[in-house]
Amino acid sequence: MEIVNIMLALLMLLSAVGPVLSNLALIIIDVQNCFLSGGTLAVENGDDVISVIQHIRLKYKDQISLTVFTQDWHCADHVSFASQHKGKQPFTAMDLQYTNNGTLCRDNSSCDASYNISQTLWPDHCVINTTDAKLSSQLKQRPGDIVVRKGYNCQVDSYSGFFDNGGFSHTELDSLLRQNKITRLLVTGLALDFCVYYTSKDGQALAYNSQ
Ligand SMILES: *[C@@H]1O[C@H](CO)[C@@H](O)[C@H](O)[C@H]1NC(C)=O
Ligand SMILES: *[C@@H]1O[C@H](CO)[C@@H](O)[C@H](O)[C@H]1NC(C)=O
Ligand SMILES: *[C@@H]1O[C@H](CO)[C@@H](O)[C@H](O)[C@H]1NC(C)=O
Ligand SMILES: *[C@@H]1O[C@H](CO)[C@@H](O)[C@H](O)[C@H]1NC(C)=O
Ligand SMILES: [Zn+2]
Repeated sequence: MEIVNIMLALLMLLSAVGPVLSNLALIIIDVQNCFLSGGTLAVENGDDVISVIQHIRLKYKDQISLTVFTQDWHCADHVSFASQHKGKQPFTAMDLQYTNNGTLCRDNSSCDASYNISQTLWPDHCVINTTDAKLSSQLKQRPGDIVVRKGYNCQVDSYSGFFDNGGFSHTELDSLLRQNKITRLLVTGLALDFCVYYTSKDGQALAYNSQ
């Protein structure tokens, strides 16, 4: 129940800060069918996060000025899928090389590799336009809520809601937050050790007060 414990700690932190919070965005990472039970890449105990998020949204609705849902959104032949690499198994890693403009080197002979990224290989998951990739119907979107898609570049994976893993390109998340005068982020969702972690880390690097 690691997720629930960490979320409760965040709730206590919010309570401690008191009712004067403003410019706070709730970022709900990848609460999609693919990462929930029955999904193609189900996170252990992932379903527990839903009631915690519902509780946060209800209890802190006056403090949260913007809610953003991110959505992992992959091509059917995405580079992070083990199925795309001959002889590779899910949950192993391989090195991927990229040129200086972020083009994947598909063979080592004719490629001027500038970046070398260790890629964890996953089962096929969250494929564009599938039911598996849909945001969970258990978390209702409200008017004004925003959905930001990530991972749609077939050649680069993207754990963070801000940048892809190579830092080659960014989503619209940062500019949306700035347009809405957001200075503080509360990042929740799935999975804590990957997408929540990297989104929060990038948020801090972009000078948001991010938890
Ligand atoms: C990157 O450079 C290669 C040549 O090295 C070129 O073929 C490709 O179109 C470029 N891609 C982008 C996105 O600029
Ligand atoms: C790329 O390198 C691997 C070994 O690291 C080698 O087996 C393979 O033949 C090389 N591919 C090309 C196209 O040179
Ligand atoms: C990429 O990095 C790994 C270790 O980080 C290293 O073993 C591998 O040789 C590197 N590959 C290239 C092409 O630089
Ligand atoms: C996904 O659905 C949209 C809307 O129907 C369509 O425009 C798009 O081409 C589809 N993408 C893929 C990869 O199937
Ligand atoms: Zn993914």
